[in-house]
Amino acid sequence: NHEGPFRVTLRPMDSLEAINLSLSLNRFFTMWQNVVALALLATAASAATAASADKVLSQHATTLADNSANLALSLYQDMAKEKNVENILISPVVVASSLGLVALGGKATTATQVKTVLNAAKVPDEKLHSGLAELLTEVSDPKTRNVTWKISNRLYGPSTVNFVDAFVKSSKKHYNCDQSKINFKDKKSSLNAINEWAAKSTDGKVPEVIKDIEKTDGAMIINAMFFKPHWDEEFHHKMVDNRGFMASHSYTVSIEMMHRTGLYDFYDDATNKLSILGMPLAHKKSSLVFIMPHQVENLDRVEKVLNKKQLDIWLSKLQQTAVALSLPKVSMEVSHNLQKHLEKLGLTEAGNKSKADLSNMSGKKDLYLSSVFHAATMELSTEGNEMNTTIFSSDKLKSPKLFYVDHPFIFLVKDQKTNSILFIGRMVRPKGEKMRDEL
Ligand SMILES: *[C@@H]1O[C@H](CO)[C@@H](O)[C@H](O)[C@H]1NC(C)=O
Ligand SMILES: *[C@@H]1O[C@H](CO)[C@@H](O)[C@H](O)[C@H]1NC(C)=O
Ligand SMILES: *[C@@H]1O[C@H](CO)[C@@H](O)[C@H](O)[C@H]1NC(C)=O
Ligand SMILES: *[C@@H]1O[C@H](CO)[C@@H](O)[C@H](O)[C@H]1NC(C)=O
Repeated sequence: NHEGPFRVTLRPMDSLEAINLSLSLNRFFTMWQNVVALALLATAASAATAASADKVLSQHATTLADNSANLALSLYQDMAKEKNVENILISPVVVASSLGLVALGGKATTATQVKTVLNAAKVPDEKLHSGLAELLTEVSDPKTRNVTWKISNRLYGPSTVNFVDAFVKSSKKHYNCDQSKINFKDKKSSLNAINEWAAKSTDGKVPEVIKDIEKTDGAMIINAMFFKPHWDEEFHHKMVDNRGFMASHSYTVSIEMMHRTGLYDFYDDATNKLSILGMPLAHKKSSLVFIMPHQVENLDRVEKVLNKKQLDIWLSKLQQTAVALSLPKVSMEVSHNLQKHLEKLGLTEAGNKSKADLSNMSGKKDLYLSSVFHAATMELSTEGNEMNTTIFSSDKLKSPKLFYVDHPFIFLVKDQKTNSILFIGRMVRPKGEKMRDEL
């Protein structure tokens, strides 16, 4: 089975194999050169159109974007400490917009605490809402970013509540959020209603947001989203095979992995025994950054050194490097109740029945926030814009570094244009069958 460009190996590629691989690819692509040349022309033309339509973010949106990075790391850190949580997937900019919704419906301290959590005390109310809306519209725009990112938000209140018209209108306008009243006391049908809504609004990609309803008398914010990064340069769809992902030394999951060699942002931090790789997403407005320890280990050690400052240092050290890359081709579905984590960050009133003032939502002081569910599915696939194949006939891919993502790692989607963090998370245990260790 060592013939043809897409041969399968059962262990990590070494550098020699990686070179062979790119040489095979090179042969494979020669025949496609004419076709590819045309496609490249088309891509260049559409990129130029997108660039000319580029909007500049307002001052307030810029501030909120910057602050989303701090929110990302503090939220991640608090969630990572929780026992029994393995995979994590959150979108800090979407969390920020849910916080905005609380500010919109809240009064007094209940509302001002939102600004504290967002570190936006100086931003006037109206600018807070328009700024958050502007930021989210910018980063999730499918046209300028060629991204698949479906975001649905809904606020559920108990059947006794009446949502005020002004709130309904503003929450739709700024946060694209709808409201529903639901009889939480009938747990089974409320669970069904919520999960069905989430599944429907994400084309089935988020099948379950919530397993149980703990508090039946409060309001619930639900985010359901589907995110599929579109690489700046695709993987070849045939460069995929089955491999093992070592969730731990004693637990290997069978998954699909995709492989390619290319020039990527790379940095090896020998002191912290980890490597970092940044892969640009379509139109290079954002990139998916992987932070991976050299060896299989649980992520505690890396999480201890991970903070905003360290992250900025790592990002500043990334350099274009030839890399033979193997990535899980998996879909990750995660749902988190963020309520208690947001409380830790300072949102203490909205969720406290005796203190909450959400009277801008309901006209009365009769409502508190019982939970904030954040459910997301991220699908890593081979898809992206066409490869620039010229690289394969140069010597730039000689002796590539190996980046073989077969054990737990931390990742984030960093937006280059707005400097915000679109997603942060970790993959500890991908979906898949347990593999026996005989290989
Ligand atoms: C991304 O761009 C490709 C062409 O480069 C197109 O086929 C695809 O539909 C686009 N996807 C999205 C989500 O815009
Ligand atoms: C709600 O606030 C009151 C008054 O500050 C406090 O005594 C109580 O412990 C809080 N309840 C919760 C659940 O945090
Ligand atoms: C919230 O209440 C305050 C004070 O009553 C009011 O000035 C403000 O316009 C209200 N906001 C909304 C969105 O209704
Ligand atoms: C493809 O890559 C080559 C060199 O690596 C570069 O000169 C060329 O501009 C690239 N083409 C496109 C369309 O990006």
